[in-house]
Amino acid sequence: MQETKDHFEHKSKTWDLNSKRVKNAGAIADAIIANIALKSDMTIADFGAGTGLLSYFVAPYVDTIVAIDNSPSMLEMFKLKCNEFECKTQLLHHDLDNDTLPHVYDGIISSMTIHHIANQQKLFEKMYAMVAQGGFIAIADLDKEDGTFHDDNTGVFHFGFEREVLEEIVKNAGFKAIHFETVSIIKKPHREFSVFLLTAYK
Ligand SMILES: C[S@@+](CC[C@H](N)C(=O)[O-])C[C@H]1O[C@@H](n2cnc3c(N)ncnc32)[C@H](O)[C@@H]1O
Repeated sequence: MQETKDHFEHKSKTWDLNSKRVKNAGAIADAIIANIALKSDMTIADFGAGTGLLSYFVAPYVDTIVAIDNSPSMLEMFKLKCNEFECKTQLLHHDLDNDTLPHVYDGIISSMTIHHIANQQKLFEKMYAMVAQGGFIAIADLDKEDGTFHDDNTGVFHFGFEREVLEEIVKNAGFKAIHFETVSIIKKPHREFSVFLLTAYK
């Protein structure tokens, strides 16, 4: 992959030490497990897997998780934890802003990543191409916010999302049975931020 700046290099080693982050990933995983009929023979991809916080909680319910991320340092932390996962894992260093990969998965999960991707229509079209017929997506991110969620907005392309706008994008990409629910509230000293889980099927 062409080398781009690793925006998460300075955060990767301490990423999992933030208890709010771990709690958020756990809540997202609980909602995925409750909403999607995960199966023990499934191979799924985690888009923007990072250090594997979401993957870790979903691992007991599937056969393999493919961690896709463009940050070598975050993937390095994922790799260090691989033995702790209750499923097989594969790492894929790839920039989701670039071309569609020639792989097809039973489903795609993602947590707190899509606000880092500029073109949402292209992203969901890519997900559609990379999911098997009847497969699912389960994507969690912030509801529309005022730009104060991150201390530094470098690499942030969207200050959260309007659910209606995202629903239209997901529908245009070809997905069906689109459903949103609030799965977590992240409390910061100055305000609270809600997190949605979007599920849909090909
Ligand atoms: C906020 S972190 C979330 C990590 C993990 N999903 C979690 O919940 O802890 C966003 C992740 O998306 C990755 N990411 C951002 N832009 C990306 C891109 N264009 N292609 C692939 N991964 C990307 C980052 O490297 C980072 O690991």
